[in-house]
Amino acid sequence: MEKQHLLAAFADKFGGEGTVFASPGRINLIGEHTDYNGGFVFPGAVQQGIMAVIRPNGTDLVRAFSLDLNEYGEWPVNDPKGPEETCLRFVYGVARELIERGVEVSGFDTVFAGDVPLGAGMSSSAALESCFAFGLNDLFHGTISKWDMVLAGQATEHKYIGCNCGIMDQFASVFGQAGKLMRLDCRSREFEYFPFEPKGYRLVLVNSCVKHELAGSPYNDRRRSCEKVAEAIQALHPERKIETLRDCTWEDLEELKIKNEKLKITAEDLQRATFVLGEKDRVLAVCDALVKGDYEEVGRQMYRTHEGLSREYEVSCEELDFLNDIAKECRVTGSRIMGGGFGGCTINLVKDELYDAFTRRAVEAFEAKYGHKPIIIPVVIGDGSRKID
Ligand code: GLA
Repeated sequence: MEKQHLLAAFADKFGGEGTVFASPGRINLIGEHTDYNGGFVFPGAVQQGIMAVIRPNGTDLVRAFSLDLNEYGEWPVNDPKGPEETCLRFVYGVARELIERGVEVSGFDTVFAGDVPLGAGMSSSAALESCFAFGLNDLFHGTISKWDMVLAGQATEHKYIGCNCGIMDQFASVFGQAGKLMRLDCRSREFEYFPFEPKGYRLVLVNSCVKHELAGSPYNDRRRSCEKVAEAIQALHPERKIETLRDCTWEDLEELKIKNEKLKITAEDLQRATFVLGEKDRVLAVCDALVKGDYEEVGRQMYRTHEGLSREYEVSCEELDFLNDIAKECRVTGSRIMGGGFGGCTINLVKDELYDAFTRRAVEAFEAKYGHKPIIIPVVIGDGSRKID
């Protein structure tokens, strides 16, 4: 994205200059819908993201302009209601969450824009939250930690947007490092950087351009199913401490299937929990395979995740299943839906020599069937939230 372009827009709107901050979107190799179940995820930041020019204005008024959506709003920083426009609500929510965490945020002017596609499952909203969490902490001399920034972004989703997301996206956006994936244990919050240079393979996203919207109920419903199953297993085993599905085993699930009637667990809840337990196993299998450099095994697990997301967790759509079939047909090593689902991208691990044939075929076949071209996005793993000099 063009820093100069954004600075010019800021000068035009408010006069003078401000400080520029950026925060990226993310990919996730494997570990989908595991973050809010206390499991492992394997994300990395991408080069695309959100950039914002911000300048404190010495009043208590926030004046914010989204260049991409051409939306402008102003509100007192402590306004109990805040703006209605979603993209401005993120800014509003993050400022409030920072104040709650002790940062003395007062009024500021800002212009922001992004090159991470919206609704593509690449976490454009986490990029926006993290950009403002990082930037406002810096400009208002806050001393909160990077984890506080992650949690401020997540709380913004929960309280102001209505999506009860996990912590993967904000984590990846804040902590990302060029060339490295991160394996995060969402229960303990311990994480490790993993240099990701699969010799002979590449990662590529295929964006179906079917827009997904996580703020609605389907995402939250799935999270609720997982919580209900964990609570039911806790009720069967008061002697254990079960906080999430991370603490549950396949035996627990089998037992629950027999005793579920009294506990009001539906077949749908059980099916969703089955996916999560399977995904937990798949993430561990991928960790082993990565240590051995066995990318064919990584790919097999990715296909299994797709199956699970499509049939058990039911967060796929026809277009994404179609792209997955095309990947199989082109002998792509691994392919699956990435992110929350309901649209967006597939992530594909493909051998160098098959790359051109696959991406060409994906575009042609998809366009012939659905009437619009999907967008090919080569993955370059980039840096997390930062100030731009
Ligand atoms: C969305 C959420 C994340 C995570 C993924 C699915 O991106 O924001 O917290 O749950 O879906 O893995």
